[in-house]
Amino acid sequence: MRRVVCSGSFDPVTNGHLDIIGRAARLYDEVVVAVLINISKQSLFTTDERVEMLRETTASLENVTVTRFHGLTVDFCLANDIPAIVKGLRAVSDFEYEQMMSQMNYRLAGVETLFMTTNPLYAFLRSSLVKEIARYGGDVSGLVPELVVERLRERVTVEQSVTGAGETL
Ligand code: PNS
Repeated sequence: MRRVVCSGSFDPVTNGHLDIIGRAARLYDEVVVAVLINISKQSLFTTDERVEMLRETTASLENVTVTRFHGLTVDFCLANDIPAIVKGLRAVSDFEYEQMMSQMNYRLAGVETLFMTTNPLYAFLRSSLVKEIARYGGDVSGLVPELVVERLRERVTVEQSVTGAGETL
């Protein structure tokens, strides 16, 4: 059984993430999508919400499972008998940091990292930009799945009603 982990914050999942997950699912027997429970980083969606969106958007992929983890990715890998991490590389700018992480993860636990170049359609896509665009009322359709478009719309509306943002100056 060849298993690989795809770990991240997924706040929220984008079409770029889904592209990598889907392509990895064609290469491996099982892809475990692991959502980081990050108590220090402020996220727009809770871990449960992020997991749920991933489960819904990967439901058609039979060999993809979605779970959450905290701590080190390599500890999750060791505990679940997963020998490798798959990562999407958008641009050279991603490479330096990802190379350092992959070398550290190998040093820590012998866990391999496999890099997959992103589909050029999504090379500019990152969750933080999607959130910013949504917060300012921009159109994120085509960048994230339709259900995420809806959840973003609901969430930023709630945020704006709490903070008073969006009021006419
Ligand atoms: O989607 P992100 O936020 O870029 O994902 C980053 C993630 C979750 C893959 C990374 O922060 C991570 O692996 N965090 C867990 C802690 C860890 O293992 N750190 C790396 C030590 S080399």
